[in-house]
Amino acid sequence: MTQLFGQQPHIMLSGVQKGYRFSGEAIPIFSGLDLTIPRGDFVAIMGPSGSGKSTLLNMLAGIDRLDSGTLCIGASRLDQMDEAARSSWRAHHMGMIFQFYNLLPMLTAEENVELPLLLKPLSRKERRVRVEKVLDLVGLGARAKQYPALMSGGQQQRVGIARAIVSDPDLLLCDEPTGDLDRKSADEVLDMLRFLNRELEKTIVMVTHDPQAALFARRTLHLDKGNFVEEKRAAL
Ligand SMILES: Nc1ncnc2c1ncn2[C@@H]1O[C@H](COP(=O)(O)OP(=O)(O)O)[C@@H](O)[C@H]1O
Ligand SMILES: [Mg+2]
Repeated sequence: MTQLFGQQPHIMLSGVQKGYRFSGEAIPIFSGLDLTIPRGDFVAIMGPSGSGKSTLLNMLAGIDRLDSGTLCIGASRLDQMDEAARSSWRAHHMGMIFQFYNLLPMLTAEENVELPLLLKPLSRKERRVRVEKVLDLVGLGARAKQYPALMSGGQQQRVGIARAIVSDPDLLLCDEPTGDLDRKSADEVLDMLRFLNRELEKTIVMVTHDPQAALFARRTLHLDKGNFVEEKRAAL
């Protein structure tokens, strides 16, 4: 952490209500959720299936709307933005990493990584420089021209990470990023997330089922019945 005192919050949810309608009935998931995540944090979110972990990430990503309450990320009030503003905000401030990578199979690794940059006013050369830099960072510089189908799960996820960071966002949201990987590839991906947090000061929110994956984070929050409880860790 670069700041010792007075860390600014990066994410602030306050009094958040969110539910879904199912056969005409309103089913609440969050009724009055408060959560603060400081800038530079790396937090693991754990919780039973159906407890609302993906809903939380989708609200943070500006994909799902809150029913009511406040969501501040950095200086922005996401709950007050319309769809278009949220999607432009997302392109600048946030990268997402998914369990099943969500790479496009007909594009090479470098073309997949380049996709988020096509929304930005960059020349082809500027895009190429950035893509090369992030593929090198995740150790896949030599596989830039390869298609996802020819890569292992761990390699595909590293392409997913490169795509998430190519616009240099300050926040990464990861939904079960190692859920489909063997232990060794999972640890490589988690090491990379830890590097992005420690060295490049990305704030990371990671949903995971895996207690070993959660240990790579700075802290773990357990979501149960619409509220978060912080896990106490033994002092190292
Ligand atoms: N689009 C939706 N429409 C209706 N219900 C939903 C929708 N998305 C999620 N839910 C319900 O909301 C609850 C929380 O879902 P989710 O956030 O996906 O949980 P988790 O990721 O922790 O498994 C679940 O009961 C789920 O069935
Ligand atoms: Mg989920």
